[in-house]
Amino acid sequence: METGLKGKTALVTAASKGIGKGIALALAKEGCNVIISSSNKANLEYAVKEIASTGAKVHAFKCDLNLKSDIQNLQNEIVALYGGADILVNNCGGPHPGFFEEIGEDKWDYAYEQVLMSPVRLIKLFLPYMKQKKWGRIINITSLSVYQPIDNLILSNTFRTGVTALAKTLSNRVASLGITVNNVAPGYVLTERIKELAENKSKVTGETAEKILEKMREEIPMQQIGKPADIANAVVFFASESSAYITGNTLHVDGGRVGSYL
Ligand SMILES: NC(=O)c1ccc[n+]([C@@H]2O[C@H](COP(=O)([O-])OP(=O)(O)OC[C@H]3O[C@@H](n4cnc5c(N)ncnc54)[C@H](OP(=O)(O)O)[C@@H]3O)[C@@H](O)[C@H]2O)c1
Repeated sequence: METGLKGKTALVTAASKGIGKGIALALAKEGCNVIISSSNKANLEYAVKEIASTGAKVHAFKCDLNLKSDIQNLQNEIVALYGGADILVNNCGGPHPGFFEEIGEDKWDYAYEQVLMSPVRLIKLFLPYMKQKKWGRIINITSLSVYQPIDNLILSNTFRTGVTALAKTLSNRVASLGITVNNVAPGYVLTERIKELAENKSKVTGETAEKILEKMREEIPMQQIGKPADIANAVVFFASESSAYITGNTLHVDGGRVGSYL
């Protein structure tokens, strides 16, 4: 597939590890100039080394997505470097797990800023450049929780459906300007996040985290937990010229895990 991504500038947030880093690597391999951000400088340095080994131009900036000022500073740095970003991949750290009774207002506020407001703020800052260029790609990383609630992830269930509504509504607004807005919804992907969720569940059920991960694997029709590269391939497609007629969509990448028709 000819992606047409060579020379495009791509920002991937929360990309020092896991799915975000996998996406940054894949875009780098397609010839994008890649900018990654996360809340931890040391983690970013490791990631930059790995991504730079593809031969791509890579920049990293510390940006805590829960801080409005960090997001503004990130945009300032990118404008100074490239004028803006052609591709914006909105990824964030995973929201706190828990059932309704366990989640206090502080955690609701945190997840609102983390999951919903960080893409809102980033899109507000990067959309004008895309409009000016009459080309842009906005891709949000959500979760299979937008198809069916995950019992102990009420924050993900609530705010990721909000991101899905944001994407669809905005996609209509910018569709005639060469800008697409889509979501990639991962199923279970082997990263630190999934291991933390398994450990968290282990404290409640008494089963080992390994046993919980094994049960997750068995729930997947393909009988395999995904890899960051599986999610990254879908992002590359949404970023590419090949997806130019697709907008307002969500693609679940989950080995068949989502049980609904659509
Ligand atoms: N793994 C799965 O099975 C799965 C499934 C569905 C959805 N998801 C979602 O996909 C996203 C990525 O998950 P993952 O599995 O790749 O998680 P991960 O391996 O734990 O990586 C999380 C990334 O987020 C960054 N991060 C954490 N807090 C941050 C903050 N305040 N500001 C900026 N960056 C921050 C981390 O970097 P620093 O520590 O360096 O800041 C790290 O790069 C999450 O939202 C997760 O809920 C994951």
